[in-house]
Order: sequence, then structure tokens, then C-alpha cells
Amino acid sequence: MGHGRVPVVIVSARDLQVDTLGPCRVDSPLASRLPRRGESEYWLGEDDKVLFDVALSEATVRGVPVGELPGFEPSGARRKIYFDPTKTRAAIVTCGGLCPGLNNVIRGLVEQLTRQYGVRSVIGFRNGYQGFIASYGHPVVELTPATVEGIEDRGGTILGTSRGQQDPEEIVDCLERMNVNLLFVVGGDGSMRGAMKIAQVAQQRGTKIAVVGVPKTIDNDIPIIDHSFGFQTAVDEAARFLQAAHVEAVSAPNGVGLVKLMGREAGFIACYAALASGDADFVLIPEVKFDLAGEDGFLAQLRRKVASRGHSVVVLGEGAGQELIDEPSRGLDASGNLKFKDIGAFIRDRIVEDFEAAGAEVNIRYFDPSYAIRSVPANSYDSVYCLRLAHGAVHAGMAGRTATVVGRYHGRLVHLPMNLVTSGRKNVNPDSDLWQSVLEATHQPPLNGHLPAAVVTPRGPVG
Ligand code: F6P
Repeated sequence: MGHGRVPVVIVSARDLQVDTLGPCRVDSPLASRLPRRGESEYWLGEDDKVLFDVALSEATVRGVPVGELPGFEPSGARRKIYFDPTKTRAAIVTCGGLCPGLNNVIRGLVEQLTRQYGVRSVIGFRNGYQGFIASYGHPVVELTPATVEGIEDRGGTILGTSRGQQDPEEIVDCLERMNVNLLFVVGGDGSMRGAMKIAQVAQQRGTKIAVVGVPKTIDNDIPIIDHSFGFQTAVDEAARFLQAAHVEAVSAPNGVGLVKLMGREAGFIACYAALASGDADFVLIPEVKFDLAGEDGFLAQLRRKVASRGHSVVVLGEGAGQELIDEPSRGLDASGNLKFKDIGAFIRDRIVEDFEAAGAEVNIRYFDPSYAIRSVPANSYDSVYCLRLAHGAVHAGMAGRTATVVGRYHGRLVHLPMNLVTSGRKNVNPDSDLWQSVLEATHQPPLNGHLPAAVVTPRGPVG
């Protein structure tokens, strides 16, 4: 029998309503952990809704002109485009730290530009924004479907990358000299700030260069968009280290597997890896402060966990607990990011001291996977996502969009003004359902200390 598609007709709110067995009259044991309306967007009221139709149309919002509703321009091919493909030269640059999927994006851009639109010349600038600056002497690379074939099997970027800004005037000089009409910047928030300046300078000069961004970071801290490419692959890799930490921990008396993961000020990788592996007892992230000392502090809680379970696995976001380390600041990196003190080694040493002081044995296995989670090829999910972002970026650029990035918002690929994605950084909201899931999966108790105000309800601190 064939599987014919059954058309789903949504005509009213009732069509989306789920059945329920009856009124809810019993207090939930989780109630005290839940934030309240006014404190959090994650408050869950009986009448709350996730709106069904995010792509608003005349049919769904009758009487209100679509143009007046706040919404993003959808990504995709336009009937009319700005650039004449036969007279267009496109360029690609990858900037910032590595991220799984960079080569997928490069290949996707090249193939879409040449095979779909018939653009005759695509070039790659090497080593991030340095590639535009004559004094560095990096040669440009001609990119064709043949030269990019199979590159997605490799991690990293075939174009190389670097951190840091370069003079946007010099960059536009270079683009003008090389007759580039369309520039694709694949990079993080710092790179997007640079891309915005390039677009501004081009506009001030009256030069018709479109600058389109594909935002990138394994940290998943880009605001507004659902998630950034490469994140899922990084989580896959990180989860493997957690599994190894668990194996080590269970294989030794009083074993503790401690894993430090990248993510800067955002604990997304730590949270997702912990959820994916199912083995973590503690997840320490920058967004949720914790105490080390005291009966309810992390060290005592860990000792109790090891005593009851025989072992424990601890996941640590690299930006967690920085305020606990009494060392001078390490300054900023070339992208203007704070260089972190080594919280992993610090916590490892405190754990050893604490067990010794308590007269208990501990066998600690410390993992710092570091770059290993971001230098791998993209997994299938990210490969698809990167390709679709590349397609969307080319459609946007060919249609003359500039200072624009392509990203997924509520499941749809959309165009976003570049300044939105540089407007701040997303991080794990301690009120969110994500953090709740982490607490539920790990059974992590409150680690006392300075819980963020947002998670303190009148009924007591959120766990
Ligand atoms: O921004 C992505 C990221 O991977 C962070 O998680 C990490 O702190 C940083 O880059 C380290 O990058 P690098 O050592 O290349 O500057």
C-alpha cells in the first residue's frame, strides 16, 4: 500500500489543541524550581502558546498588512536578482576560530554560485581578513567546483583563517582592485563586525559590493538565530569525551571523570554534551555561579556523590568559575575575547586537596579535549545545515542584499541585518527548559553560592 499524503487543514486554534485527561489539581514536586511570569520568558502558564505560523501571511493575519508586522525576510531564490551572473565576481573568506562545516559552506557557496547562477569567477581570500592586506602576501585561490570537490571530508577550512580585524578601507581597496562584487564572510561576531564595516565603507564610496555573512561558532552563542552551524558536531565530539570520562571514572575506586569543554561565556556545549552522554552528575557553566567550599558547595556535594555512587562525572564549561581563581586577568585575544584562566586544572587540584583533607581516596581523570571538538569534519546534520546556509547566502547576495547574514529562525532560513547578530551574545538562561533538563538529567543539587537573581523564586532557590 502506498503512503499517500494526508492534507492537514488548520482552520482554528482547536485543531492544534491536545487532549487532556482532566483538570490538574495536584502540586508538582518541580513547582518550586520553575520561574514565574515577569522573571522569565520560559514561564509556562496554562494559556501560553507557541504560535503556529511564524511565516506570517495575509491569510493568517487578516486585516493587518504583512509589511507592518515585525518579521524577517525569508531566505531563498528571488524572481529578480541584482547582479548579472555573467559579470559578477564573488569572493569567500573564513575568519576566526575553526568550526566543523567551514569547508561545507565553502563548497556550497562555490557550487551554488557557479552551477546554479552561472557566476564565472569565485576566489578565496586566505587566512581571514589578513588575506586582503597586501603586506601579508597571502595569494588568492581560484575556487571552482573541481577544486572544492570532496573538501567537506576534511575538518578546518581550505582557505585558512585568522583572528582579528584589518583596516576596512584597505579591504575595500583590495576588493575594488580585484573587481569583486559579492563577498561572503564566514565567521563569528567579531568577523561580522568587520564585515559590517566593509559593507559601510563600500557604501560610502558608492561601490556596489554586497557583503553577506554566514555566522559561525561552535559555542552557539550567536543571538537571535536558532543555532550556529558546527555546534551539533562539536557536541557529538564532546559527548565522546564524556563517555570516556565515565568509563575511566567507573573503572577506578572513587573515580572522578572531569571534562573541560570550550564554549567561552556560553555553556551550551557543556549542557548538550552532558544531556547527550547521560553520564554527568555535575555541569558547571559560566551562567550559573557555584560555591566550591561549604557543606552545600561543589566539593562537598561531589564527595557525597562519589561516596554514594562510587564514582562521578563532572562537566565544566571553560568560562565557569573564573571568579574563583585568584590570578591576574590574562587579557584579550586578537578577536577581543577574554582569555580564560584554566578552570579545569584549578578544579582538578581543588578536588584532590578536598578528598585528601577528608581522608578519602580519589582517582581523578582529567580531560581537556580543547580543539579536538572543533577541528573535525561536520556530521550529517551540520553538513545539511551548512549547505542550506550556503544556498541561502548566495540567493541573498545575488539579490543584492548586503550587511546581511543568513540564519535559521524558528526553523526557517531567513535574512537578518548583520548588526542583530553582533548585538550581543546568547547564553544559557538558568530559567530555560534547557537548564531545567540538565538539572533533571544530572540530579545536580543547588551548589549554593550566588544563584543568579533570576532563578530565585519566593519559594526558594531553583536547583
Ligand atoms: O569561539 C570559538 C572557540 O572555539 C571558543 O570556544 C574558544 O574559547 C576559542 O574559540 C578558542 O579559540 P582560539 O584558541 O583559536 O583563539
